[in-house]
Amino acid sequence: MAETTSTGPERGARERIADNPLWYHTLELAPGAVTPGWFDLRPVVDRLPWPDVRGKRCLDVGTYDGFLAFELERRGAAEVVATDIADHESWDWPARMRARGPAALAAIAGPEKGLGFRLAAELLGSRVERVEVSAYDLSPDRVGEFDVVVCGSLLLHLRDPIAALEAMRSVCRGQLLSLEEVRLGLTLRHPRRPVAELDGAGELCQWWIANAAGHRRMVEAAGFDVVRATRPFAEPFGPGHPARGGVRARLRDASTRTLAGGAGVPTAAVLAAPAV
Ligand SMILES: C[S@@+](CC[C@H](N)C(=O)[O-])C[C@H]1O[C@@H](n2cnc3c(N)ncnc32)[C@H](O)[C@@H]1O
Repeated sequence: MAETTSTGPERGARERIADNPLWYHTLELAPGAVTPGWFDLRPVVDRLPWPDVRGKRCLDVGTYDGFLAFELERRGAAEVVATDIADHESWDWPARMRARGPAALAAIAGPEKGLGFRLAAELLGSRVERVEVSAYDLSPDRVGEFDVVVCGSLLLHLRDPIAALEAMRSVCRGQLLSLEEVRLGLTLRHPRRPVAELDGAGELCQWWIANAAGHRRMVEAAGFDVVRATRPFAEPFGPGHPARGGVRARLRDASTRTLAGGAGVPTAAVLAAPAV
């Protein structure tokens, strides 16, 4: 049926999508109605080392618009909880960005954190429950325990990623799937030595970007054993991603295409289990 352009409760999916000033994830919310996300995980989602989630209680930490939480649901999880912080102030802003970071983010993403998730969940008819709790504050008392915990592209935004992983460990009775941006140059130069690049300055609120060995070590340092690890792959930019200009970005894009097999953010994923 053709989409309507009414203002009533039956407003079409495309109009609802346009209500959200910024989509982080590219999601198809109705046939042909796709969000203009900054990132499009759809082409790489099947390459992740997924555990079997069927019938399991699952947690997605730092969900943004919910792509990974909806994927857990699609894969047959019995229950999915998706967590995120409540507002733009709650990111781990570096000291120099703390005063102006939240307003700068609100200017592009809109004032309402979680709007994209709520719209997506409604249009998808999802039963995923979104809970506002920082990754640092996850505990069995707060959210219960989970068979599977998923965490994507969050650790690089945290001043203390190991503390957040330890909190995830406290609620994980099964497996952790962690996917994170990695530095390809550091991965090539140090295939086995864990190293990370420190940012802690810019408005993207980024702290530690590790090489692939560094990502694995972070997970291990928090009390997990790595069961499987992928080689770096490119997490593709979505249709809404701002144009990337400048020599540095072009060089980085070229090396990602060569070393990670495509355009996007160099990412590595690990499947891990709590160490006994
Ligand atoms: C870069 S996005 C990643 C979205 C999604 N997990 C993915 O892999 O595509 C980072 C997400 O982590 C959230 N976040 C930032 N700090 C957090 C914290 N301390 N605890 C939980 N989530 C946090 C952000 O609000 C955002 O939703």
